[in-house]
Amino acid sequence: MRKPGIKSTREIELKKILVIALVFITATATAAEIDKRQILPLSELQRNHVLTEMRALLAGTQNILDALYKEDMAAVADHARSLGMGMAHKGEDHLKAVLPKEFMQLGMSVHKAFDQIAVDAESLKDPKHTLQQLSESLKKCGACHDNYQIRITEQPAALGMNPSLHHPHH
Ligand code: HEC
Repeated sequence: MRKPGIKSTREIELKKILVIALVFITATATAAEIDKRQILPLSELQRNHVLTEMRALLAGTQNILDALYKEDMAAVADHARSLGMGMAHKGEDHLKAVLPKEFMQLGMSVHKAFDQIAVDAESLKDPKHTLQQLSESLKKCGACHDNYQIRITEQPAALGMNPSLHHPHH
């Protein structure tokens, strides 16, 4: 009943489809691996400044959660305030010239949100309210991470630095 000729042709066709499918899957995976987020060209020092602040944001968030589960609202307020606008004012001027306006605004809105968390933790003393605010604020972390990546550059123009700093010493 079976026609061997047709079967082997089918097998070849199936193999072809399989190979095409694998190639497609691999190509798709490779495409997804390319980081398409907007590049922030920073110097080594500027990158370190941003990432140090980032780690402080993560550690501070953890501290807030820890205080929250202990229902220590005074500690919640302290930890939240340490991530507020006071944190932003620490030597961020040199980054303002380099980072896009939208990036800075998103960053500031996170600091403002933590100040609000501190104020509400002191006045309302409602852990559930704080949790909800924290959840909303963390969406901003994700929104920024989805859109930006840092790349190190030593190009003076990209650094936005004073060109006179690069004049050779006499
Ligand atoms: C305005 C933009 C922005 C906001 C808001 C932001 N981040 Fe980031 N964060 C970045 C960028 C840019 C990087 C580097 C990403 C890259 O180069 O891939 C980063 C990296 C990090 C890292 C990695 C640090 C390291 O040492 O590598 C952590 C942790 C982090 N962010 C935590 C947070 C947390 C927590 C929040 C919110 C409370 C937050 N970030 C909000 C921009 C932001």
